[in-house]
Amino acid sequence: MSNSTKPKRIGILTAGGDCPGLNAAIRGVGKTAIVEYGMEVLGFNAGYSGLINGDYIELKESALSGILTLGGTILGTSREKPFKMAKNGDPHKPEKIKQTYKDLELDCLVCIGGNGTMKTANMLGKEGLNVVGIPKTIDNDVWGTDVTFGFDSAVQIATESIDRLHTTANSHQRVMIIEIMGHHAGWLALYSGLAGGGDIILLPELDYNIRSVCKKIEARYEDNKPYSIVVVAEGIDHPKGVSAASHVGKAIQTYTGIETRETVLGYIQRGGSPTPMDRILATRYGAFAAKCIADENFGTMVAIKNNELTTVPLEEVGGKLRLVDEDFPLIDKARKMGVSFGDEYL
Ligand code: F6P
Repeated sequence: MSNSTKPKRIGILTAGGDCPGLNAAIRGVGKTAIVEYGMEVLGFNAGYSGLINGDYIELKESALSGILTLGGTILGTSREKPFKMAKNGDPHKPEKIKQTYKDLELDCLVCIGGNGTMKTANMLGKEGLNVVGIPKTIDNDVWGTDVTFGFDSAVQIATESIDRLHTTANSHQRVMIIEIMGHHAGWLALYSGLAGGGDIILLPELDYNIRSVCKKIEARYEDNKPYSIVVVAEGIDHPKGVSAASHVGKAIQTYTGIETRETVLGYIQRGGSPTPMDRILATRYGAFAAKCIADENFGTMVAIKNNELTTVPLEEVGGKLRLVDEDFPLIDKARKMGVSFGDEYL
């Protein structure tokens, strides 16, 4: 690894599930690195796979123009975890990564991703590579930062979808269940559920009881509210082999006798152009990551705390999740307005 005092050549990769704003972040790092600090920038294709295989492109300043508003990632992504020795897998992946880094004379690697990506980035740091992480994910569950880019865009898509369910639910006097992404964290279900006027919101972090959910729906009917919107995170407790929405919907229909319909929003939530807020957030993160490299502040993840840019050691981030706490103020406010989290009527 180079020990030069001023980093000159950097590599960027995007890993894990994609989200809106990745290109804005690539552009933010790349343009700042080139224009402000005179660095050379390489982009690795398909996440950590590109680093293992030496598959990269040179990112000149001109290549970074016109990508701010694009969804997805111009570098591609993958869920490659080089330190996880899969059965029949290649145990030499970390060595190959170190070789690529050395051969290309890199001074730093910028890893844009979620929790898994940060964990790998930290391990690469321990192997002697200079790394800087940038947190992204629609799930908003990266530990150490208040917000990840991709989240605002996904909240907008999910909210618009919930808005559309209201009219058809009202016309047919049905219970509409909408399943929102989030295996472990319910941030997206919570924010879109509240923004979209959901009557019941079920999160992986809070235990729900189906009887309580049904009582809430029946109470609404008795109160001349002939339809209900139930927002469920995909990670709530439900049997394997069926979707969370289907499980909850069937139970509601069985217990209340009210007609239910289910919508699983799926990958729509991860696609398309980033919102202006995500473009700004990704740009701020990217530009700050370039500054971290210039300052040789390695082994860190850029973060936002109280709307201020800062860094947290990657060592602290790896392997942790930022989950919704039941004392989160928004939950209390919602409860006081009559929103149910599936645990009130017991
Ligand atoms: O990006 C996060 C996330 O969207 C989760 O909410 C979801 O469960 C997961 O990725 C699924 O992604 P994939 O099918 O690409 O592994």
